[in-house]
Amino acid sequence: MNTIAQPATAPVRKTTTFTYLLAALAGLMFGLDIGVISGAEKLIQAQFGISDSYIEWIVSSMMLGATIGAAVAGWISSRLGRKRALIISAFLFVVGSLFCAAAWSPAVLVGARLLLGLAIGVAAFTAPMYLAEVAPQKIRGAMISTYQLMITIGILGAFLSNTGFSYSGNWRWMLGVIAIPGLLFFFGVMLLPESPRWLVMRGRSDDARKVLRKLRTSEASVDSEVGEIEAQLKIPQRGWDLFFSNSNFRRSVGLGVMLQIVQQLTGINVLMYYAPRIFEHVGFVGSAGMWTTVILGATNVLATFIAIAFVDRIGRKPILYAGFVVMAIGWGSVGVMMHLGIHTTGEQIFSVAMLLLFVVGFAMSAGPLVWAICSEIQPLKGRDFGIGVSTVTNWVVNFIVGVTFLSLINWIGTAATFGLFASLNAIFLIFTFFLIPETKDVSLEEIERNLMAGKPLREIGA
Ligand code: BGC
Repeated sequence: MNTIAQPATAPVRKTTTFTYLLAALAGLMFGLDIGVISGAEKLIQAQFGISDSYIEWIVSSMMLGATIGAAVAGWISSRLGRKRALIISAFLFVVGSLFCAAAWSPAVLVGARLLLGLAIGVAAFTAPMYLAEVAPQKIRGAMISTYQLMITIGILGAFLSNTGFSYSGNWRWMLGVIAIPGLLFFFGVMLLPESPRWLVMRGRSDDARKVLRKLRTSEASVDSEVGEIEAQLKIPQRGWDLFFSNSNFRRSVGLGVMLQIVQQLTGINVLMYYAPRIFEHVGFVGSAGMWTTVILGATNVLATFIAIAFVDRIGRKPILYAGFVVMAIGWGSVGVMMHLGIHTTGEQIFSVAMLLLFVVGFAMSAGPLVWAICSEIQPLKGRDFGIGVSTVTNWVVNFIVGVTFLSLINWIGTAATFGLFASLNAIFLIFTFFLIPETKDVSLEEIERNLMAGKPLREIGA
């Protein structure tokens, strides 16, 4: 996420709201694609008679695609522009979804999910950057949180639609139906204005002015914003150089990487990708399990509001501590229940409640906060690079978790697997204490000064 200085006083126009809603739709698409496979994978396995490890590949080829997409997104969005990058990704969304629906073999599914992943990788990098670039400063924080919220709403939407189609068992419809929001997104992004910052970057300040006139209400704010963008662009982005020449920058890049590893090793995505299977282990089979995924998705959305409400009031670290404790208790309790055996309805409900508790812990803390901190800790000159590297890490670890989960439960059992996630979350408390800075109420400039002065990472914030 880019942080671009813009006049705090710039008034907001209707076009801005429209622009912002459309770009936030990218978050929705992201969420739909994360959530959609969980309802389909068992049906796919039954139809093609394939092994668990083949299923792991169908699930995880998307994350592999997203890794590649995120790695090239910076280049695409700076060469072709933010708008074209979003159009390309919308196109891939639609094509990928249609190929998923039509897949005549499991290998085609792997390929189609790879395409979907490319779409997500590009969109998930470009959309937040675009949002930050068109949003007036005073509502930028809200816009970026809304983007996170859209992801969780997309996941919920996918869980709902999966549940609807699960009665007929038609996995092709489950996977294909998201081509419809994909098409809306495709035609919507055609209407978006290009990012003023990108236009200035390409030496097209007059075009940038034209766009800003649609987004801001006064000529004065248009002028001062173009002026500020021009001033900012004098500071060249020199990620690789800085990475090799400056050990302090290597520390902040390393911290971003660690944060994303931690986020993924909380175990959130085993639920996102395999929830119905996990609910079967707890005793919720068939439509009972599917409706439970809807409750899970809704919990994920609602708990995100806890983060939005408290992150600027009580700070990042207290929320992270609370989140990791809650997540460790959630996974730990389910692990113990699985070990003892789940027989009665009461035991089933308790186990599901503990899974939901885990989701609350994630959505109120590591979910949104890791993304926020990753964009706050990078110095201006290396910000695009630093955020790019941490985003790619998110997808790589996401892939590793997705591609090993079923093998892991086949190998060490569900109780031990969930116990492992519980222990990891407990360890992340120590990581939070020693390495994560508190960035609440600290300006990005101050964080950068502290980092470059060589202060320990946990002290670069407040
Ligand atoms: C994570 C995703 C996850 C989602 C769940 C995001 O912050 O990066 O991997 O699927 O939260 O809501």
